[in-house]
Parts: sequence; C-alpha cells; structure tokens
Amino acid sequence: MKRALCILCCLFINTNATPNHPVVVTTWSFINSTIGAWKVLKNGGSALNAIEIGASICESEQCDGTVGYGGSPGENGETTLDALLMDGKTMNVGAVGAIRRIKNAISVARHVLENTKHSILVGELATEFAVQMGFKEESLNTQDSKQLWMKWHNENHCQPNFWVDVTPDPRKSCGPYQPKYRSKTSLSKIKGDRYNHDTIGMVAIDSNGDIAAGTSTNGAKYKIPGRIGDSPIPGSGAYADNDVGGATATGDGDVMLRFLPSFLAVEEMRRGASPTAAAQIAVKRIAKYYPEYMGAVVALSKDGEYGAACHGLAGMPFPFVVHDKTMEKCHVVLVECT
Ligand SMILES: *[C@@H]1O[C@H](CO)[C@@H](O)[C@H](O)[C@H]1NC(C)=O
Repeated sequence: MKRALCILCCLFINTNATPNHPVVVTTWSFINSTIGAWKVLKNGGSALNAIEIGASICESEQCDGTVGYGGSPGENGETTLDALLMDGKTMNVGAVGAIRRIKNAISVARHVLENTKHSILVGELATEFAVQMGFKEESLNTQDSKQLWMKWHNENHCQPNFWVDVTPDPRKSCGPYQPKYRSKTSLSKIKGDRYNHDTIGMVAIDSNGDIAAGTSTNGAKYKIPGRIGDSPIPGSGAYADNDVGGATATGDGDVMLRFLPSFLAVEEMRRGASPTAAAQIAVKRIAKYYPEYMGAVVALSKDGEYGAACHGLAGMPFPFVVHDKTMEKCHVVLVECT
C-alpha cells in the first residue's frame, strides 16, 4: 500500500514537474526589461544573456531614475552604478560597485565574470577595467541629476542624509562632518531611507535549464560617496544555483545586505520551501531586526515556479514582472506586504 501510494505520488509529481522553461522574473514593474530578456530566452538565448540584455534596457531607459545614469546623485552630486551577474551553472560571479562614468554597468559585470578570475571590482579602478574592456567613459550626471542634487543641497540643506553620530548635527546641516565618538556597536539601528529603492533585479531560466540572476542600480540617493548597497553583493542583491533556483532582492540595501536575503531564499527552496514561502522567510528575517525596513525578495525555483514577499512599502503592494511560455505578454504580479 505504501509502495503504491509512493508510485502514485511520484506520478503526480512528475506530471506537475514539467519544468516551466524558459522564464524570467523582474523586480518592480520594469516591463521593457522583462520583454527584452524574454526575447532572448524565447530565441534560445542563455539566461546570462537575457539578464544582461534586460538590465541593460533599464540602464539606458533610466528606469524610475533609480537604474542607470542621471539618477540618485551621491552627496557630491555624482551618479555611480552597481551591478551584479551570477551564473547558476558555474557559480561564477561578476560585479561592479560604485563604478564611475560608465553607463552599461551590467555589461561590465559580465566582463568581470567572463574575462577575470575576480568577482567584484569597485570605484575608479572598476572604471579603468571597463575602459580596458572597450567601454566608453562618459559623465553619468545629467541636467535632472544636477537639479535633484541642487535642490537637496541648497534648498533642503542636505536633508535627508545617511550620517549618524557626527557634528555638526546632520539633521540640520551639510558636511563636512566629524565623528562625535567612535562607536563600539557595529549594528547601528539606522532607519532605512524611504525614497529610493527601485533596483532592477532579475532571475531567468533558459531553455537548457540554466539559471542566472543579476541586478543593476544607481544606488541610494544622496549616499555618502563610496557606498555600495546590496545590489552588487552576491547572495544579497541576487543569487542563482542551477540545482535549486534563483532569487533577487530590492529595498533598503544597507540593511538588507547584512542578511543575504537572496541566498537565504535559495537555501530555503533547497530545503523544500516554495518560492513564495522562501521569499517570505528571507523578508521576515530582516524584519525581526529592522521592523521599519522596506524591501522585497523575488524567488524562482529551477522548475520555473515563482513567488515574492515584501515588507514595509507604506501600504503599497510590491509588483514584479513574469514572462514564461504560457503568457502572450508579460504579467505584473502584485504582492501584499507585511
Ligand atoms: C518601453 O518601450 C516602449 C517601446 O520602445 C517605449 O515607448 C516606452 O517609453 C518604454 N517605457 C519606458 C518606461 O521607458
């Protein structure tokens, strides 16, 4: 009897397990990126290509002003970019952090992945690498980003900003700041900023069943120069493993990267959780320590099942975009947040 049940059960699982390949999921409502990635997948292209093309579209369309050039100026008015690409087949990673004067950050990340034995390059030296790889150097600042910065600096006296425990009072003034004291506590309970989180994160499975994940962003608005967030950190911004699936995260990066939510979601799926449950666990873990943070995780299993969870979006649902072969057009899925 037990045996019969098991066979039935296996049959049941097998008929349901026709993998949903190819498929792509994207954070927020970045439809054009999803369509671009889908076209690559539909034509038999690799998951890595799909992510690179998809994220590149956001970088050139300046999605929501939070991806690509001309958005999220730092304290010094400069836009810098972060991007990550992870290959779930080889577990190879390429990423750039705070790269300057190069528009196509995700493609630089691809070059780090494919042309080096390193995983992450940062700042001015990442720019030098990109130039060596043939990328064009150009300003990432625009009229819009200059105006945004001027308003923040001149009208709002550098409010809000990311400083704590400094003089003069960071709530009232612009820098230069000096530390009040050297804090011994490493986990300062900073409140997540609430004005800029729309990283593009993507996970894709191609028709071979290979999985890739990636991100691209211009980081937090008015960040302290040199800051990178969760997006270029493997396991935080995105993670992929052909054996299990992939995940990507978006939100208050400074807080989220301390918990590696994309890695956690993938590991939960490895232990048998559904993508939705895995994303919920990853989101909840952070909320336990930072109840006021805002963020979301999207997870995709190797069978092409997907789900997401989010926290603290001020009562708004979190949207993500899916495209698979059952859909004529991509679907935007809305998730209620905790
Ligand atoms: C998406 O692509 C269409 C067609 O190229 C374009 O008209 C539209 O402006 C794009 N959307 C965004 C948000 O850039």
